[in-house]
Amino acid sequence: MKGPLLAIETSCDETAAAIMDGEGRLLADVVRSQIPDHRPYGGVVPEIASRLHVEAITPVVQRAMEEAGVAVQDLGGVAATQGPGLVGSLVVGLSFGKALAAARGIPITGVNHVHAHLFAVFLEERHPSFPYVALVASGGHTSLYLVKGFFDVELLGQTRDDAAGEAFDKVAKVLGLPYPGGPSVAERALHGRPDAIAFPRPLLPDSPYDFSFSGLKTAVITWVRKHSPLDPGDIDAVCASFQEAVVDVLVEKARLAVKETGVRCCALCGGVAANGRLVEKMGRMAQDEGVGFFVPRPRFCTDNGAMVALVGLKQLKARHWLRPDGDCFSRAVA
Ligand code: KG4
Ligand code: ZN
Repeated sequence: MKGPLLAIETSCDETAAAIMDGEGRLLADVVRSQIPDHRPYGGVVPEIASRLHVEAITPVVQRAMEEAGVAVQDLGGVAATQGPGLVGSLVVGLSFGKALAAARGIPITGVNHVHAHLFAVFLEERHPSFPYVALVASGGHTSLYLVKGFFDVELLGQTRDDAAGEAFDKVAKVLGLPYPGGPSVAERALHGRPDAIAFPRPLLPDSPYDFSFSGLKTAVITWVRKHSPLDPGDIDAVCASFQEAVVDVLVEKARLAVKETGVRCCALCGGVAANGRLVEKMGRMAQDEGVGFFVPRPRFCTDNGAMVALVGLKQLKARHWLRPDGDCFSRAVA
């Protein structure tokens, strides 16, 4: 690939673009969040998300190119998130990328959003070595992987129902806390006791690497209904106890994966990796098990273009290009 790469991320409620040079140096990383636009509705409204991506995509890409000091004619390739995500949102970034690549006669590659989260740890100077166990916990996914290489990722288990971030978002909604729920619940949890309420910790002994958070979510809703109206202290207690239950399940499953695979490193990625309590307890688990622990800085945990650039660059170098007439979504595996 001759020239830097433009990476685009529009899978959910962030319009993001990044520029990376051929050696993997990040030259610009711009994120325009739609959170304030969706907040009045208590969650992401797909139709609004698509329209806002259409508005934001050109200025966000232009700003990234300006910050990097890169002109359109300098670009050597394009990477765009291909899925999974909101289809109407993905289409905006992918179509923009395809049009730009076609106009410039440069290759485009489609990046799997979960893989981008998974490899975001490599945006940091201190990163794991292969093989490592990685937990991706986001608004749409909760998955455990054994990562053997950039193109060699084994899924160990995943959620059967709600993703961890989704559970945070739903609990926040029930408590009347603002969207997105993760940061709101985490903030209130700082003021409550994690052992105040004994919420269940679903460990699914028959499939120890899978997750299920819907029962926990129902237990929280039931408790809230039973004890309403809640005072601020109750809300803090629910937040701290719910967060602790989610964290304990995530950490214990990661511990089992680390033990059974015999890896030397483990990593935590995705939006929920911005949770301080989860980072603290995963770090403690890694220490107990004698393995290295890696987590990207919070900016690289939530949706961003830099992680798409990192995976996109590897794919472009391996000539994993999208055909101009290719079916863009068929390769978007979960
Ligand atoms: O990775 P991400 O930005 O988007 C998806 O791919 O889904 O993750 C967003 C999710 C949301 O559910 C949000 O509530 C959650 O990550 N999240 C958190 C925190 N910050 C974001 N969950 C718990 N604690 C946080 N501090
Ligand atoms: Zn994401």
